[in-house]
Amino acid sequence: MKRREIFAGNWKMYKTYQDAVDLVKGLSAGVKKTDGREYAIFIPAPYLRDISSLCADTLFVTGAQNMYFENQGAFTGEISPLMVRDCGAAFILIGHSERRHIFHETDEDVNKKVRAALTHRLQPMICVGELLNERENNETLQVLERQVKGALLNIEKSDMAKISIAYEPVWAIGTGKVATPEIAEEAHISIRNIIKGLYGSDISESIPVLYGGSVKPDNIAGLYKMNNIDGVLVGGASLETKDFLPIVNVKN
Ligand code: 13P
Repeated sequence: MKRREIFAGNWKMYKTYQDAVDLVKGLSAGVKKTDGREYAIFIPAPYLRDISSLCADTLFVTGAQNMYFENQGAFTGEISPLMVRDCGAAFILIGHSERRHIFHETDEDVNKKVRAALTHRLQPMICVGELLNERENNETLQVLERQVKGALLNIEKSDMAKISIAYEPVWAIGTGKVATPEIAEEAHISIRNIIKGLYGSDISESIPVLYGGSVKPDNIAGLYKMNNIDGVLVGGASLETKDFLPIVNVKN
């Protein structure tokens, strides 16, 4: 089965405004149109509206890196799904490991955000992944099960076509220690099996599962050739044209 493939960059809390504009111009000039491949960048919230406009005539769409689950209210410092949508984003990143581990987001928060995103026609990209000590204690499967089931609680089958999952083992994020293609593939198969248990094999076979964690130009080819890796979510290497373009343009 041919699945959606998504190549995404997560800028995290990097870039001045002018650097952001220059990066988008460089990326849009260098990305090659590849059948069926989607390209997304997760932008810091203050630049979301301008960068979404700038992306309008390019192959890239934008997403926000986080949002609150309420539509509006006295929630100082938060942004709402309505605002994210209003700024032209197509995607929303939910449950990134930095949100879970630095800002103490729970599986319940993640689930509320997924539901809010769907209500506002944003496509949730749900991040899951184990810590190093959880992998060493053979708890990876349990962690993935808890995070995937938690995120998808009460999500209707009919909404699943809008959802993608990013497997980002925490020990591989920002460390330069990429998961081997085999380790990533095994985790992606586990994620598909969990989804199969919840929604059946059609949905588990069609949902895009991306890999993230120290993806670089020199390791993308090995990861991308695996059957169950449907794209990547890139942090550090999405910040420079010279690094991100070879990743998004990797050969089929
Ligand atoms: P790095 O590519 O910098 O390891 O970050 C991965 C990530 O967290 C993407 O969301």
